[in-house]
Amino acid sequence: MTRSVTVRVPAKVNVQLAVGGRRPDGFHDLANVFLAVGLYDEVTATPADALTLTCTGPDADQVPLDDSNLAARAARALAARHGLDPHVHLHIAKDIPVAGGMAGGSADAAGALLACDALWGTATPHSELLSLCAELGSDVPFSLVGGAALGRGRGELLEPLPVGGTFHWVFAVADGGLSTPAVYKECDRLRDTAGLGATTADVPDPEPSPALLDALRAGDATALAGALANDLQAAALSLRPALAATLAAGTHAGALAALVSGSGPTTAFLAPDAEAAERIAAALRASGTCRTARATSGPAPGATVLTNG
Ligand code: C5P
Repeated sequence: MTRSVTVRVPAKVNVQLAVGGRRPDGFHDLANVFLAVGLYDEVTATPADALTLTCTGPDADQVPLDDSNLAARAARALAARHGLDPHVHLHIAKDIPVAGGMAGGSADAAGALLACDALWGTATPHSELLSLCAELGSDVPFSLVGGAALGRGRGELLEPLPVGGTFHWVFAVADGGLSTPAVYKECDRLRDTAGLGATTADVPDPEPSPALLDALRAGDATALAGALANDLQAAALSLRPALAATLAAGTHAGALAALVSGSGPTTAFLAPDAEAAERIAAALRASGTCRTARATSGPAPGATVLTNG
């Protein structure tokens, strides 16, 4: 009998986040170029008498352990799909910054889906897992597949992208999180204030940058640095002006480029190589402009079963 299943799931950075206008359903159409990076959460599913949840890690106290937790919602959704009771204990070993713009909650949802599917022997087809992911959140399908992908629609319609090499990154973790809906709302407010309008009628359709896709395909960090773009950056900086000092500190330390990761407040720095990434991380930690800084690389694989038994 299977006693527990552990799944490892990566964080992501958006190397391009082009945000279209607000749709009637409140979401925004995106051209969202995801890159999975080597910071991971691990989700372990164990049989239990009820759905229960625990979490460990430096930010564990910020993770909700009630029904709102995306991992718990994922287990419920999979159980409902197969007519089962969601009787499972989920343990999240959390290393991805919480509410940081790196899809940590989405990673836990994708991890819980894959872990429960293996634990329960439900063998859900990949396409069905992907649609369950999309129902749980816009970034959850990408957490399942990893690598690099273009996300259209609200980010859930994925097209895998070729990547021709390893990119080295540093992530500066801020104190406290930012709410993703609040950042999108601020993006709309800034567009309205600028007189541009914020609906799909006002904002051009978001498109991926050909230069950015070429840079990914070629594995060319210098070219990628010139093409990185995040339409939510101005909104994240408006809500958290102190992030400007973090971006400046990483650039000063030798990053090829700096940007806010997704809706923030984690900031991302592209480094020329692994050694430079370690140096930039050390400089950021010493700068006093962030809580900590982590060097890693991408692309990283998607949700992966580590132990099953
Ligand atoms: O899909 P998810 O639950 O992760 O989205 C969280 C929130 O982020 C949404 O409720 C919405 O406010 C905002 N969002 C958006 N457009 C997207 C994705 C997310 O406005 N494409």
